[in-house]
Amino acid sequence: MNILRINCSPRGRASESYRLSQRLVDRLARAAGVPEPRITEVDATALPHVDDDYAAALSARVDPDGDTLGRGALRQSTELIESLRNASHIIIATPMHNFTVPSSLKVWIDHVVRVRSTFEITPQGKVGTLADRPVYVAISSGGEFSGEAARQSDFLTPYLGYLLGTIGLHDVNFFSVQGTARGAEALEAARARAEAQIAAHVFTGFARKEPALA
Ligand SMILES: Cc1cc2nc3c(=O)[nH]c(=O)nc-3n(C[C@H](O)[C@H](O)[C@H](O)COP(=O)(O)O)c2cc1C
Repeated sequence: MNILRINCSPRGRASESYRLSQRLVDRLARAAGVPEPRITEVDATALPHVDDDYAAALSARVDPDGDTLGRGALRQSTELIESLRNASHIIIATPMHNFTVPSSLKVWIDHVVRVRSTFEITPQGKVGTLADRPVYVAISSGGEFSGEAARQSDFLTPYLGYLLGTIGLHDVNFFSVQGTARGAEALEAARARAEAQIAAHVFTGFARKEPALA
């Protein structure tokens, strides 16, 4: 078991999404019988935006892993993709910002969703090259974005599901603490709902044969 966790909140380890992701780590580890799983942490808030070399390499019809491998965002991208390929389980801890993913997560996405690396363009469309493996998304939001209490659109979960599918990750599972801005009592209730969601989930990834890593 080798968990890759992408932390996207500006509040770091004090964040609600990180807290929820830790519950997922604990449950995954317990269910797999691995008391201390290996966790590779990525602080998405510290990632630089993609740069001109990266953009040029991706738009050129050449393999960007050539002699430009060692430079700037290309190197960063290669390392981030490598950590994805090496992971048995992926956890994304993220707040909802403006109805969708925060800019930090978008930066990580721009680094790892890379043509001729994590996806290929085919006559049928974009096809992912990563071996499928479980992804758990721990979301925190100030208001509700699903269920009867929702008063806002959710561009986060459909976007992330579609995007991860593009690179070959189809086993995407969403968990959320919604309504963190509604006071302490509402927060406790939201956390309890998330706990119930986790308790009801069957964590199957560990039971399968470790995926053949792409
Ligand atoms: C820039 C920004 C945009 C936000 N946009 C939304 C939003 O669209 N919908 C929502 O429900 N909450 C929104 N929030 C509130 C956060 O989602 C909420 O505070 C969440 O619990 C933060 O999670 P964290 O502790 O993991 O960072 C926004 C917060 C910030 C800072």
